[in-house]
Order: sequence, then C-alpha cells, then structure tokens
Amino acid sequence: MENNPFSIKGRVVIVTGAAGNLGKGYARALSQAGAIVYAWDIFKEHPVASYEVDGYKDLYPVKIDLTSETEVMHAVKNIVETQGTIDGLVNNAALNPAVGTDDGTDLFAPYESYAIDLFRKEIDTNLTSMMITMKHVSPHMMHARGGSIVNVASEVAVIAHDHRVYQSPGKYKSPAYAASKAAVLGLSRQWAARLGEHNVRVNAISIGGVQSPGVPDDFAHRFGSMNMLQRMAQPNEYNATIQYLLSDASSFMTGSNLVVDGGKTAW
Ligand SMILES: NC(=O)c1ccc[n+]([C@@H]2O[C@H](COP(=O)([O-])OP(=O)(O)OC[C@H]3O[C@@H](n4cnc5c(N)ncnc54)[C@H](O)[C@@H]3O)[C@@H](O)[C@H]2O)c1
Repeated sequence: MENNPFSIKGRVVIVTGAAGNLGKGYARALSQAGAIVYAWDIFKEHPVASYEVDGYKDLYPVKIDLTSETEVMHAVKNIVETQGTIDGLVNNAALNPAVGTDDGTDLFAPYESYAIDLFRKEIDTNLTSMMITMKHVSPHMMHARGGSIVNVASEVAVIAHDHRVYQSPGKYKSPAYAASKAAVLGLSRQWAARLGEHNVRVNAISIGGVQSPGVPDDFAHRFGSMNMLQRMAQPNEYNATIQYLLSDASSFMTGSNLVVDGGKTAW
C-alpha cells in the first residue's frame, strides 16, 4: 500500500476533451503519475491514430462524442469490462476556441445576433455532456464505494469575461460559455450531494486563462495583467490540481469549487 496520499498509481481515470490543449496534458500527467488513463475526445482536429501515446504507459485514446448518451454508455461499459472499475472522471471537454486561432469565429459574435442553435450546442457540449458521463460512471463508483469526479469550470463561472481584453470591436466571449460554466458549479454541487453517502466525491475547478501555443504575446500580457500574479497560466499548471482532487489527499473534499486563477476573482 502506497504511503503517499497524492498517489493515483493504478487508478482507472477517464479524461474527456483529452485531445485538446489542456486535456492532453492532463492525460499525460496522470499517466506519468501511474494512472490507467482513458483519453476521450471526438478527435475532430486530429484522428485518434495520431494521438501520441509513445512513452506513456496505459494511456488509451478513445474516439467518442460526449453529447451522445449511447456512445458514453458503451465506452463506460468497455472500461468496466476491461478494468473492472472506474476510479476517476475528469470532465474537461468544452467548446473553447483559443485566442490567436481562426477557429470558431461564430463563438465570438455579438449577443444580439448570436445563433441560438450554436448556444444550444455549447450547452450540450459543455454542460449536458457532464451530466451524461456522471450518470453512467457514477453507478460503478457507488458500487465500489469510492471515486472522484472533477468537473472543469472556469473563472467565468463566477465573473463576467471582460471583452475589452480582445481589443477587437465586435468580439465577445460566448454567452453560452459563461452560462454553462456557472451551471457546472451547480451541477457539481448537486451530484456531490447525491453521491456523498456512497463515498464518491465531486468537485469543480475554476481555472484561469492559459497561454497555450499560438496565444499572441500582447493578448497574454493584457489578460495576465488582470490577475494578481500578472500573467496567464502555463498549460501544465493545473495538472497537479487535477491529480490532487483525484487522489486521497483530497479525501474530505466534495461539493467544492477549487479556484486556480492567479487571484483574478479574489481581486
Ligand atoms: N484554455 C483556457 O485558457 C481555459 C481557461 C479556463 C477554462 N478552460 C476550460 O478547460 C477545458 C479545456 O480547455 P482547452 O483550452 O484545452 O480546450 P480545447 O478546445 O483545446 O479542448 C477541448 C477538447 O474537447 C473536445 N470536445 C469538444 N466537443 C466534444 C464532444 N462532443 N465529444 C468529445 N470531445 C469533445 C475537443 O475535440 C477538444 O479536443 C475546457 O473545459 C475549458 O472551458 C480553459
């Protein structure tokens, strides 16, 4: 028995959105820490075959659309049949185009002309998908009398995004993004209340902006100057937070919103 409360060695963990900027880092870091990681993503940008698993042990990419309850149900069943259990779930997927790319320009449209179909799709991807994964993973955790679920929210779960940071007239952060992230906090608390008596923990993390590759320096400077640490986060700066919440080190923590935003929302 490992004496380190932060250890996640041998734990079976699902990471959603695991082909994305942050999710890929989470999947790799958890694998390096000894977890058996199922890296779920729709793999729209890069085919699953190009997902780099070299040098990472027990890291399994799975192509899945998280908005499909049927697909999630089958993927959960496959893991349980292979591993016998699921110990951790990191709900990280969302529609979140990085600044500095040409992706998703319609996600930055003025609210008066915002496409309602897109709004619905974002709620489906960012929020309903978490309900679906928790619905199908939680029975196995309850049966095992243990498990940890981490739902990724954002600093905009508790504050509005300040669009002046774009310095681009007519460009606004999606209203569905902030609404869905605020709802992630409520959804997480409610699931924590449901699962607590079964020794299954559910926590949210509200993270700040990340200087992913391609984010222009001037934007990073403006965005970073809005928090106490005066910089954006580096892509690897949330890995240990995720590991902590999955591990026994956080064994008395549930229903929480862990804020990791360089002090932005405390200011
Ligand atoms: N990057 C930031 O600055 C930042 C800041 C605060 C919060 N967050 C949150 O962190 C998480 C990760 O952000 P990121 O920047 O890595 O985003 P990203 O866009 O790089 O990654 C998101 C991933 O989710 C996947 N995905 C989207 N819809 C899916 C679906 N229906 N089924 C399966 N997979 C799907 C995408 O394919 C993508 O790989 C998100 O929840 C985001 O809201 C990010």
